[in-house]
Amino acid sequence: MSNVVVPAIINVDVPGPVINRHLYGHFAEHLGRCIYGGFYVGEDSDLPNEGGIRLDVVEALRALNIPNLRWPGGCFADEYHWMDGIGPKEERPSMVNTHWGNVEENNHFGTHEFMALCELLGAEPYISGNVGSGTVKEMSDWVEYLTREGDSPMVRLRKRNGREEPWRIRFWGLGNEAWGCGGHMSAQQYAAEARRFGTYSRDHGDNKLYRVAAGANSGDYAWTETLMKQLGELGCAYRPAAFMQALSFHYYTIPGTWQDKGDATVFGTDDYYRTMVKAAYVDELITGHSNVMDCYDPGKNVGLVLDEWGTWWNVEPGTNPGFLYQQNTLRDALVAAVHFDIFHRHADRLVMANIAQTVNVLQAMILTDPDSGALVLTPTYHVFEMNKGHQDAASLRVDLPAAVPTREVGESTLATVSVSASRKDGRLLVSLSNLDAAEAADVELDLRGGTVTGVRSRILTAGKPHDHNTPETPAAVAPRAHEQVTATTTGGLRVHLPAHSFVTVEADLA
Ligand code: AHR
Repeated sequence: MSNVVVPAIINVDVPGPVINRHLYGHFAEHLGRCIYGGFYVGEDSDLPNEGGIRLDVVEALRALNIPNLRWPGGCFADEYHWMDGIGPKEERPSMVNTHWGNVEENNHFGTHEFMALCELLGAEPYISGNVGSGTVKEMSDWVEYLTREGDSPMVRLRKRNGREEPWRIRFWGLGNEAWGCGGHMSAQQYAAEARRFGTYSRDHGDNKLYRVAAGANSGDYAWTETLMKQLGELGCAYRPAAFMQALSFHYYTIPGTWQDKGDATVFGTDDYYRTMVKAAYVDELITGHSNVMDCYDPGKNVGLVLDEWGTWWNVEPGTNPGFLYQQNTLRDALVAAVHFDIFHRHADRLVMANIAQTVNVLQAMILTDPDSGALVLTPTYHVFEMNKGHQDAASLRVDLPAAVPTREVGESTLATVSVSASRKDGRLLVSLSNLDAAEAADVELDLRGGTVTGVRSRILTAGKPHDHNTPETPAAVAPRAHEQVTATTTGGLRVHLPAHSFVTVEADLA
């Protein structure tokens, strides 16, 4: 056991805000091989599928309890015209996917296919509507098509396309990155658009939309402030407008520059630590946006949504630069673990987060081989799986009363030990990361207000932070039972964390 011992106090009988399960949300864009070849292979594929949807992908994702899936973009959302993606496939018009590789999109995966995918996954749909190049009528019709009962022009169209009953949709995005690919608007301009699009995205019957306004790029707090002002009714008691229930922001972990983001698998120790600093920065961003929102909405009625996050590296050599295909190492897994600890601490305001993206794009859960079709689970997948018990659990505050180990990284100081905890149904779940690339650490959990009975622990680590999974070595980075958890004399637990490791400890509480 190492000499570095980090004490951590958890009052297991003092529940904090519930960790919304939607913090474990996902994102599927018409980008590269995310949809075609990833989720969807078509009915004629040799790979087992249902209506063209890959069943091995579905099975793997069901094990994560994925709560929601955002679609169809991303930047693609603001040039997607949903009516092109309904009806007989051979009659659907094609388009050019100008954002992502300039490839032809045949629209074979459209609204019905997406809803079927969500049903197979047991996930709630989160649709991003087109504000950038679409019309208010187009968006309004889409909501009617999806959610209205009885009889109406859009209902008749839906029924002609084989779907009798309406679907239920809650999460509805009003465009995407309106400051950039979604129209290059100013915050004022976008706020005006969001008012119109939000107004005509109607609640039909008892289907109530949860409308998410397209929010800031990273630390653009002025954007958030403008939306809070323009999309709510100001006064002593701020009331969010009926047409906006949440606003989003996007943040990617990129330790390099936009031109040279760094390689997914080839990196030095400095790159590794810089990555961790960039990942931890999401804490400052969530705090900053929350502070702005608190000024207007101290009752926290408006939700904050981080509907794109994750690592973004240079594409894998030899792949289409517009497809954003990247490998995924233990380093990516630790980035995810740090994000989740931070998300749990902001459970009072952060209501949803969506990693970008689920299959074959950026920080994916699953990579599929374009030739053989082989499916590989990434190290990041395993963090989602190991952490799934936090979904809808009550967050528990973790106090670290002594200094935690740190590394100086450029002008930043990186705390290398990160811990978060929650409680649900008499069960405690603690997630612990050691970000140090070389040194082990022990965390001594001082568990107050409850007695721990059965304890189970798992660890995700590997020889090097660069290690990753491939079709040939699919389990190079995979969780295994962790034996180095021991009871302390005071009823707590001492957890050993090897260098660059992620550990979960699950305990029954009496
Ligand atoms: O996830 C890739 C792209 O990143 C999305 O399409 C866009 O919203 C963001 O800039």
